[in-house]
Amino acid sequence: ATTSTAPESGTGVFSRTRARISARTLRTDRWWLPPLITVIGLGAFVVYATVRSFVRTAYWVPDYHYLTPFYSPCLSTSCVEGASHFGTPFGDLPMFIPLGFLVLPFLLGFRLTCYYYRKAYYRSVWFSPPACAVAEPHAKYTGETRLPLIIQNAHRYFFYAAVIISVINTYDAIGAYHGESGGFGMGLGSLILTGNVILLWAYTLSCHSCRHIAGGRLKHFSAHPVRYWFWTQVSKLNTRHMQLAWITLGTLVLTDFYVMLVASGTISDLRIID
Ligand code: FES
Repeated sequence: ATTSTAPESGTGVFSRTRARISARTLRTDRWWLPPLITVIGLGAFVVYATVRSFVRTAYWVPDYHYLTPFYSPCLSTSCVEGASHFGTPFGDLPMFIPLGFLVLPFLLGFRLTCYYYRKAYYRSVWFSPPACAVAEPHAKYTGETRLPLIIQNAHRYFFYAAVIISVINTYDAIGAYHGESGGFGMGLGSLILTGNVILLWAYTLSCHSCRHIAGGRLKHFSAHPVRYWFWTQVSKLNTRHMQLAWITLGTLVLTDFYVMLVASGTISDLRIID
């Protein structure tokens, strides 16, 4: 289906040098389907993560030391007892500040500036453009050269923060092998937290900035065998970056949801070793 074009402004896709085609697109396939699915998926995650980050309930299972990644690290005296693995340097927080306030902006920044997510929301949210060979509604295009989009260039710094956060999540996953009587224990929750953290590492290390940090700007790979090896591994993961971006959104929700069900007493954890 074709739609009529926006008023001509003489810039962007309506500039004089473009072909004079009045239809927005000549594509007849369902080009709108991928952006639609993307916006539904991203929107569902944003709604879930926002609600869970603010509710302050059912985020910690004291018996088995399960802490949801949305509240890790929990650094305030508002956190329930036992959930603060790294102490409580911050006092009570008002309800409008999430308990994971220190990492959530970095996690959000990491994903928002991610090369894959940029593609996803530029297409599905900003229609810039919505699909190949479909004209965008915007008359002007300034790319990532000005505020706010120039911030996209800070992605590599968000990557460094994401590495630190992955280390913290790893610590939480190891701590989740905790038995009710105090020693070693293992339950379905331990495995879910572990699976989540492995996939988070895979997503983080498959990052394009990570690949550049590993092997970018090298003139001779032969002179840097360790960096070359690391770059080769990261490059393999990098081909799956989009899939890992979606999979980790799913595992984050699944992990949080499982912790919520157990912490609230809705279900009991399936114990493998007590
Ligand atoms: Fe996606 Fe860096 S490019 S996380």
